[in-house]
Amino acid sequence: MNHHFSHIFHHPPTLSSSAPGRINLIGEHTDYNDGFVMPGAIDKKITFHLASTSATDLCKVYSVDMEETMEFSLKRLHPMEGGGWKNYIIGVVAELQNAGASLGAFEAIFYGNVPLGAGVSSSAALECALATGLNELFSLRFSQTQLAKIAQMAEHHYAGVACGIMDQFASVMGKQGHVFRLDCRSLEYEYFPLELGDYELVLLDTCVEHSLAGTEYNDRRTQCEEGVELLKKHVPEIHNLRDVSLTRLTLFQDEMPALIYQRCLHVVQENVRVLQACDAMKVRDMQKLGGLLYQSHDSLSQLYEVSCQELDFLVDFTRNKEEVLGARMMGGGFGGCTLNLIKSSEKEAFISAVSAAYFQQTGINLKAYAVALGDGAQAKFL
Ligand code: GLA
Repeated sequence: MNHHFSHIFHHPPTLSSSAPGRINLIGEHTDYNDGFVMPGAIDKKITFHLASTSATDLCKVYSVDMEETMEFSLKRLHPMEGGGWKNYIIGVVAELQNAGASLGAFEAIFYGNVPLGAGVSSSAALECALATGLNELFSLRFSQTQLAKIAQMAEHHYAGVACGIMDQFASVMGKQGHVFRLDCRSLEYEYFPLELGDYELVLLDTCVEHSLAGTEYNDRRTQCEEGVELLKKHVPEIHNLRDVSLTRLTLFQDEMPALIYQRCLHVVQENVRVLQACDAMKVRDMQKLGGLLYQSHDSLSQLYEVSCQELDFLVDFTRNKEEVLGARMMGGGFGGCTLNLIKSSEKEAFISAVSAAYFQQTGINLKAYAVALGDGAQAKFL
């Protein structure tokens, strides 16, 4: 791809950087409630080739996959209406500057193999690959955690999604063959080797992405905050749902609108499930892990209401199958993938069966991906 860069910009790139998408084993919609998640970086990533330019403050970025170029001045950055991928680029640049970075102009191309709209966070991959590249190129010396937070702010302010830290943190901190339990309050984390015995993780992509995803996501976050405000009236030391036990939540159930209680109940119980999943991983209890995946899905579907017919269909299809120990929707919801814990020897037959059933139900060909976990963001001078 270096020749691609040289062809467009008439000089070679000086640096290449990349960052992966992510899966999340369990712990959904807990991150922005300061709770626990268990993500891992996948082996699919977005790669940038970059070089600084001296003349002006004009930056140029070319998307190889979209065959589109964007140009912007470092001095005038604002979100673009319908800007798509371009908003992630200017978002990262703007948030680096907000965090105190002194950036020079640059030229870049990027390309990747992270599936788009599949719920494996291609957006975090894009943000983190660029943030990591610019951090090296201009010797900014931001830590990996700072880069993840800067990328998260790009998503908040330039893509309009008030996301938690999980996706960007996983894209930066991923480790080959491992998931990690992340405490989204302290940002402490512990790696777990993904050793699943006779089983493996397979993603089934519904290939649908319902357009409400962004607004519904932000609504859920607001509903959780509403729950916290109500609980605070009784227990002032509560700062967010991480501070709330099931017993305490149940105690104040009657003080809360039913919908708000439902949302809070999901978050409080999902946090517990993450910790239980860690215990199950430690003793390689795959049955237990699978059961937790189903519980997580049911809660996301019924209490948190972020699933959709296509996701529910795929999960329901697995329920009476002996070769599948657990399945759930993954990520923000309203489309994207389900995560399935499947017996390796039965994998191919299962994928054929579920693909046929899904096509019959929806007229859509699903995509299946075996999960392979890779390393987080990297940058190197060429
Ligand atoms: C999206 C967000 C994450 C997280 C998940 C749900 O992927 O970007 O921060 O909230 O949804 O767990």
